[in-house]
Amino acid sequence: MREKVLSRLCNVKDLPSFPEIAAELMSIVSREDFSVGDLKKIIEKDPGLVTKILKVANSFAFNPVGKEITSIERAIIQLGVNNLVPIVVGLSVIQLNKYVDERFNAELFWKHSYTCAHVAKRLAARFKLPEGEAFTAGLLHDIGKLVLFSLYPVEYMKALELSKERNLFSFEAEREVFGIDHCEVGEYVIDHWGLPKLLREVVRYHHSPNEATNHKKFTALVGVADLFSRVTGLYYNRDFKGVDLLNEPAWKILTGEEEDPESLLLPVYTDAEDAIAFAEIAWGRI
Ligand SMILES: [Fe+2]
Ligand SMILES: [Fe+2]
Repeated sequence: MREKVLSRLCNVKDLPSFPEIAAELMSIVSREDFSVGDLKKIIEKDPGLVTKILKVANSFAFNPVGKEITSIERAIIQLGVNNLVPIVVGLSVIQLNKYVDERFNAELFWKHSYTCAHVAKRLAARFKLPEGEAFTAGLLHDIGKLVLFSLYPVEYMKALELSKERNLFSFEAEREVFGIDHCEVGEYVIDHWGLPKLLREVVRYHHSPNEATNHKKFTALVGVADLFSRVTGLYYNRDFKGVDLLNEPAWKILTGEEEDPESLLLPVYTDAEDAIAFAEIAWGRI
């Protein structure tokens, strides 16, 4: 089965495409010179996206005490490029739902991913790592699950069953069914989308940060954010097995074991609330 999956991953036609506007923004901001006007021009191609960005810019998580923001220029300046691009990625990834059907439980999948994104951003501020990238990495860390389901829904349902029956982690069940897991699949997808190497490493090693090479601490950060978001009950599949945080490699790498877990864990419920509000905006429900 592994060979079959790998050959489909190499066949570009079979893979979901990365949301266009998010990709355009990413490529603009990677250039030396660009203006707010350049960003605005791209965003305005999608009026629905403009409305959603304004809602996020006025949400408590991104504008807790500020005046109401009513123009997209103001929103871009207020959010800053480092937040704008991850937010647009966050608002757009929901389009990937067209590649899966209702058996996938996209609602739970994205709520978990958005929570992980918000937690990762907060932890990044605390540990002086790049916040915008942490948000994007949190959003996309499990993308391999969605892609694996989109390619092989029947087999993926089998993996879900198996993990339930035998209380396996999702990656363990996926390996049994496919001979490959969502981490490895995710790495292919991130590569195919041409996203930065940092993201690729996080996606590949978020369950085994010890194996990360160039961005070990950043990968561990997303690993911890993933563990934290499970605490809120937002986890996809059977990935919550009573986390023994202090013994998790991700925790040790990120904190050097000196940190008090309580102080980092406490705000996680607020993160989850912010994440659900974000999800509702992305879905166009509020
Ligand atoms: Fe995962
Ligand atoms: Fe996860």
